[in-house]
Amino acid sequence: MPPSKQDFAVNRGGGMRSPSFRLRSSMGSGFGKRGSAVLPSVLTFAVIVASGGLLLMIEKGMLNGMDPPPPRASGRTADHRPHAGQYDAAGDTDAQILQEIRNRTIRTVCSQKNMPRSVWSLSPLQRRTVLQHILVNDDYRFLYCYVPKVACSNWKRVLKVLSGALDNVDVNIKMDHKSDLVFLADMQPEEIRYRLQHYFKFLFVREPMERLLSAYRNKFGEIEAYQRKYGVEIVRRYRKGGGRTTGDDVTFAEFVRYLVDEDVERMNEHWMPVYNLCQPCAVPYDFVGSYERLQSDGHYVLQRVGAPPNVHFPERQSWYRPISVETLQYYLCSLPQALLKELLPKYILDFSLFTYSLPNTTSQACRH
Ligand SMILES: *[C@@H]1O[C@H](CO)[C@@H](O)[C@H](O)[C@H]1NC(C)=O
Ligand SMILES: *[C@@H]1O[C@H](CO)[C@@H](O)[C@H](O)[C@H]1NC(C)=O
Repeated sequence: MPPSKQDFAVNRGGGMRSPSFRLRSSMGSGFGKRGSAVLPSVLTFAVIVASGGLLLMIEKGMLNGMDPPPPRASGRTADHRPHAGQYDAAGDTDAQILQEIRNRTIRTVCSQKNMPRSVWSLSPLQRRTVLQHILVNDDYRFLYCYVPKVACSNWKRVLKVLSGALDNVDVNIKMDHKSDLVFLADMQPEEIRYRLQHYFKFLFVREPMERLLSAYRNKFGEIEAYQRKYGVEIVRRYRKGGGRTTGDDVTFAEFVRYLVDEDVERMNEHWMPVYNLCQPCAVPYDFVGSYERLQSDGHYVLQRVGAPPNVHFPERQSWYRPISVETLQYYLCSLPQALLKELLPKYILDFSLFTYSLPNTTSQACRH
C-alpha cells in the first residue's frame, strides 16, 4: 500500500506553501463567477502537498521498490476503461504510477462540494469553452479535448487521418485547425450526452509554465496577428512610456503581468488553463496523457481506441525547438518573484490536478 497523504505532507517543505495562501482571493475571479465554486484553500493545499510529495518520491525513485498497483478487476466498469495493467506495454511502472496519482488527485479535488459534476452544471460560458475544445471521432468512439501548445496539431492530424480527410500523419501541409474536424459543440444535447457517456475520453497536459513559455515564444516571437492583437495592447498597458510598438517585443515579464490581470475564463485558448479548457471535473476523462511522454502516451491512446496499425502518432516536426529545463528555469528566475507568486494561483489546478511540482525559484535553484 502506498503511504497515506499525511506522510507526503511531511515530505514536502515550505516551497509549496506561499501560493496556497493566495488561493482564495485569486481563484475568485476564475471560479467564483457563479458564486459557488471557490475551493476550500486548506483542502486544496493538502492535495497539492500530497501530489507534489508523491511526485517528489517518484523523482527520487522511492517508489521503484513498490509493486505496481494491481490491475483493476475487469467488468467493473465499461470495457473501454483503461486497466492499470494495460499501460504496461513499455514495462513502464513510473508512467503507471503517475496515471494512478493523477487519477486519485483528480477524483479527490473533483469530489469537493463546489466542483462541477457534469458539463450541464457549468455556466454557459464554461460549457461553450469545453465543448468547443472537444473533438469527436464516431468511428473509433472517442473524444479528445485539445489543448493548444500540447501537441494538438499532431492530434488533429491523427483525427483527420482516422476520418479519411488526410492520407497520413506525416504529410507536410499547414494544419487547418477547423476544417474536417467535428466539435462536440456542434452537436445536439442528446448527441453530446451520449458521447460523453459512452466514448473513450482523453486529453494531453504539459508542465503549465512550459506551456506558457511555449505560447509566449511562438505567438509573440513568430505570429504577426498575435503581436498586433495582443502584443500592442500588452505593451500599452504594462510598459512605462510604451508608446510605439508593433507588439513583437513583448517581454516575458510583461506577458506574465498581463496574464495575472486576465480572467481565466476569458483568456485566449493558448494560455487559458487546461482546467478551464477541458473541465476535468465535469468531464470524466479516461486518460490524461503527458507531453513529457508524448510518443508512448500517444501510442497507448491509439491502441486503446483501436486505431489501425498504420496510423501512428507523428514524430516531432523537424523545425520544432523544444524548451529545455534550463531555458524554462532561466525565464522563471528572471521574473520578479512577486509576479510569479501572483501568476501561480491562476494555474494552480493545472499543477495540482495533473501533478506537476510548482517551480523552484529559490536563490539556490536559480544560481545554476
Ligand atoms: C529548490 O532547489 C534547491 C537547489 O537545487 C534545493 O536545495 C531545494 O531543496 C529546492 N526546494 C524545493 C522546495 O524543492
Ligand atoms: C481513474 O480510475 C477510474 C476508476 O478505476 C477509472 O474509471 C478512470 O477511467 C480513471 N481515469 C483516469 C483519467 O485514469
